[in-house]
This record gives sequence, C-alpha cells and structure tokens, in this order.
Amino acid sequence: MPDAVVIVGRTGRIVEANARAEGLFGHRREHLLGSPLDMLIPAATRHDHARHLQSYFAAPHSRPMGTSLHITGLRKGGKEFPADVSLSPLETDEGIYAIAAIRDMTDRQRLERQFYHAQRLTAAGRLLAGVAHDFNNHLTGMMGFAEVALRALPAESAARTDLEELRRCARQLADISRQLLSFAGNRPAEPVCLNLNDSIRNIERLLRRFIGQGLRLEINLSPDLAPVRIDPAQIEQVLANLVINARDAMPGGGTIRIDTSNDPAGAGEVTVSIIDAGVGMTDEVKARVFEPFFSTKEKGRGSGLGLATCRDIVERHQGRIEIETTPGEGTTVRIRLPRATGAGDSGSQRLLHPQSLVGAETLLMVDDHAVLLNVFSRALSDLGYTVRTAPNPEEAMSIARNHAGDIHLLITDVVMPQTDGVALADAIKRIRPAIKILFMSGDVDAIFGPFRVTAKEPPADAPLLPKPFRPEDMARKIREVLDR
Ligand SMILES: Nc1ncnc2c1ncn2[C@@H]1O[C@H](COP(=O)(O)OP(=O)(O)OP(=O)(O)O)[C@@H](O)[C@H]1O
Ligand SMILES: [Mg+2]
Repeated sequence: MPDAVVIVGRTGRIVEANARAEGLFGHRREHLLGSPLDMLIPAATRHDHARHLQSYFAAPHSRPMGTSLHITGLRKGGKEFPADVSLSPLETDEGIYAIAAIRDMTDRQRLERQFYHAQRLTAAGRLLAGVAHDFNNHLTGMMGFAEVALRALPAESAARTDLEELRRCARQLADISRQLLSFAGNRPAEPVCLNLNDSIRNIERLLRRFIGQGLRLEINLSPDLAPVRIDPAQIEQVLANLVINARDAMPGGGTIRIDTSNDPAGAGEVTVSIIDAGVGMTDEVKARVFEPFFSTKEKGRGSGLGLATCRDIVERHQGRIEIETTPGEGTTVRIRLPRATGAGDSGSQRLLHPQSLVGAETLLMVDDHAVLLNVFSRALSDLGYTVRTAPNPEEAMSIARNHAGDIHLLITDVVMPQTDGVALADAIKRIRPAIKILFMSGDVDAIFGPFRVTAKEPPADAPLLPKPFRPEDMARKIREVLDR
C-alpha cells in the first residue's frame, strides 16, 4: 500500500494531500487543504510536534522512514494509530515546504506482538519438555520400585493394595507426562497407521483437564473405525486445538462432543467431528479463521495460529477440514482423513502376541540415574538376565573392555553429562562389533531434530525406549531387540 503523503508549509498548514492521506485520516482533500496539520495529531502531542516542525524548517533535511520519528496519528472521529513518518524538504519559488510520508504501523505492531506471543509459546513448550524429562526419570523409578516391592511381598500382605495404588498413581502421572511431552515436542512428523479412536482416548485426560469444570466432554467412538495414516502427536495437537476452541466458544458451559465415523458414502474417508453449542461464527469470521494470526480473542488469550496449524497438519496428511457454524447455536468442525490402505504398520497388533519376557543374555545398562539402574537391574535379573550396570560412560567403557564373556545388548540413556549415549554406543561397537543397542530417553526432542543435545542423531532404525516405562515394557523391548 502506498504511503499517505501530506505537504506542509512553514506555518504548519497543509498545502497538498494524496488520496491515501484522505483514506488514512478519513478527511476529504478539500477539507485537508489549508487546514492546520494539528488536525491529524492527537492534542497531547501537538505541542511537541509544533516544536519539531519549527526546528525542521530551521534546518531542512531528508529524514527517511524508520529513523525514529514514530508518531501517533489521529483519524477523523478520534481514533488514534501508530505511524512512522519520513520528511523531505521541497524547495519552490514560494519558499520551502516539507513533504511528510506517513505509514500506518497498526498491522505491523499487531504482527510483532503476535509473533512474540507465538515465540513465547514455543519457548514454553521447550521448558515443559525439559521438566517432563526430569519427571519421567523419577516416575520410571517409582513404577519400578513399586513393581519390585510388590513382587517381594507375600500375597496376603495388607501393604499390597497401598503399593498397587501407588503404582496406579504413578502410571497415571506418567500418562499425563507423556501426553504433555509429545504435545510440547518438536520431533519430526512420523505418520503411522493408527485408529483415531485410540488418539482420542490417549489425549482424553489432557482434554478434560484443558476444558475444566464447567463443561462436559462427550465422546462417541464408532466401534469399527477404519485406520488412517497420520503422525500420532500431530493429530493429538489438532484435537487439542479444536477442543480448546470449542471450550472458548462456550463461556457459559455446556457439552462438547467428539464423534468418530466411517464415511457412510464409502468414499474411503474417516471423520472426526468436534461439536460445540457455543457462540458460533459470523460469515466474516468464518471466512478468515484459517488465516494465521486471525483471532477474535482478547489480547494474550489467542495467537490465532490454532486453526491455521490444524489445517496445515490435516492437509499434509491428504485430509480436509470443514467448518459448519451458526451464530448463537454452535460450531461443528470436521476432520476428514483418507482411510489407510495396504498392510500398514499397526503397532497394536504386535501387542496381541505377547512374547516371553525371560532371557539369559548379558546386558550392559548405562544411566546417570542410579535409582533406575538399581530397580531395572533387579527386575531384569529376576527374568534371568545377567546385568552389568554403569552410572556413566567411562565405567561403561571399562566394563566393555574388561568383561570376560559376551555382552549381547547395551541399554543406554541418551542424554548424559559427559558423553552422550549415541557417542558411547559408537565407541562400544568398535570394541564389541556384535553388540546390539537399545537407547532410552526421557526427551525425544533431545535426540532428534534441531534442538537435539547429542552430537549426532542415532541411526533412524535404532530401537528407542521412551521414558517413563515399566519394567515389563523394558523387558518386552529387550526381547524384541535381541530377537531381531
Ligand atoms: N468452535 C468455535 N466457535 C466459535 N468461534 C471459533 C471456534 N473455533 C474458532 N473460532 C474463531 O476462529 C478464530 C481463530 O481460531 P484459532 O484457533 O485459529 O485461533 P485462536 O483460538 O483465536 O488462538 P489460538 O488457537 O492460536 O490460541 C477464533 O479467534 C474464533 O473467533
Ligand atoms: Mg484456537
């Protein structure tokens, strides 16, 4: 958009104005010409402005945009707006004039504010991931100890119920922490074949937490839902965004519904609908909701990135997102994803065939959390394994050099103070080329992608056990890696 231009004489009267100046200030040109420049400036700053103009005419010079002449402009009707002004002298037979080019900075300031807000959300996500990382280490310890203690107690012990309760609490906390972490995480998208019902159940607890007390969440899952192919963390992000929008649309309470269904027309699509009975949207709002930074929420509440992100994610998975809304009645947002075809890689199918968890191999386990080494080496020894443990990479190296027999598997934490687990695995492989590797980590972000703290990423197919996990999760993963 061109700048508004106003030409002013020494006396501070306007002698010329372009069409954009008419538009920006809301005055007709006839009205501007001959009027004092003061009419375009709020009363509070008029005095300063007059001084400015005087000194400008005393020593006229060019003054480009963005060199600190930020002023406040005044529109007809009293509305003020931030503006940037450049000045240049114009010499004529009648004397000297100043050409002022005025640029409306409203949009620019708003964008800057929103940009900072979006940045802060990203930073908050990073912080959260760090906290969840510590959290997961302690939770893994709690679940492990409860397990080992339960196994040691006689069946009739009264303490069993207490310990079982403790274990249940720890698992729930681990669930929440895993959801937070995957939500805050910035890992590369990894589409897998999944059932959207599972995604919804996974994030249900987090959603209930988000929506709080005043609202009900009703979930109707189609029992024979077809699978789709999508990144699990991203679809959860979409669901969370849509449910938060629904919550914000119902300040007076009510019910949010999530439905899943197969497309009855047999078009090969799976649909998730998020249905609210909230304020709805006008046509003007509806037309703009997918624009990044478009938000009707008060300052600091919405960044306007929610639906833009949702659409981006859904479309990158060959899906569509549709909105049906009536002001005062409510909104339905539908996500349609193509049903996954072919064999796929359904992770849940493997769980249907639980393998034996026992083993006789020798394991070397490295973690800087002594608690975890303690509890897992006990659990794994119970299953028949020989377990050597090391609280840091140096000791692990020394065991790798000096251990008399085979070591079949190295199980190592990835993020450790001195050497990271990926580097340690490389070093041990040089001494024992046949050793298999299993990584464990409380923060997948720390291993993959732009924020990783390791010197290099582990190989893409390296087995990884995300913390927190239960002893049986670890035992199952160990068998899987050893039997590969
Ligand atoms: N379920 C809904 N009911 C009514 N209006 C909605 C609904 N969902 C979105 N909107 C409107 O669309 C706008 C944009 O939504 P979007 O999720 O992109 O941003 P936001 O919710 O304002 O901010 P953010 O999601 O980034 O915190 C909202 O400000 C609101 O006006
Ligand atoms: Mg939103």
